[in-house]
Amino acid sequence: MKIALAADHGGYALKEELKKHLEKRGIEYEDLGTYSTESVDYPDYALKAAEAVAAGKFDFGIVVCGTGIGISIAANKVPGIRCALCHDTFSARMTRMHNDANMLAFGGRVIGAGLMCDIVDAFLGASFEGGRHAKRVEKIRKIEEKYSK
Ligand code: RB5
Repeated sequence: MKIALAADHGGYALKEELKKHLEKRGIEYEDLGTYSTESVDYPDYALKAAEAVAAGKFDFGIVVCGTGIGISIAANKVPGIRCALCHDTFSARMTRMHNDANMLAFGGRVIGAGLMCDIVDAFLGASFEGGRHAKRVEKIRKIEEKYSK
């Protein structure tokens, strides 16, 4: 499994904690930036991670900004991306099981590293259930298709 990581300055510190956690778990990742707390624009980092995930270069993407909101909104503009902003383990598990989410977003100014690690583990430990949920995810894809013309 390989994970794409990206953050703006508001998510930089949490991304660094996330790297330590993934290393401890032996999960491969690539850090697509940002690499300091200098102010940057979160859509640029959402795009880097989302394009790489949509292109199949990574299994999942995890993105972090101050709230997690801007970076998840931007990531979800890339066709094929289902990025879920989750600050609890239940949502993280369910978004894999029901929405087949392929990206997770966090707010670096919202939660701490301990909870974030638990949420990542819940997300990565769950699988898409398919069945009736596949039909719904396909409807999301059709919305994308309708507006990409
Ligand atoms: C940057 O100050 C902040 O706006 C950004 O990290 C994020 O919270 C946007 O949604």
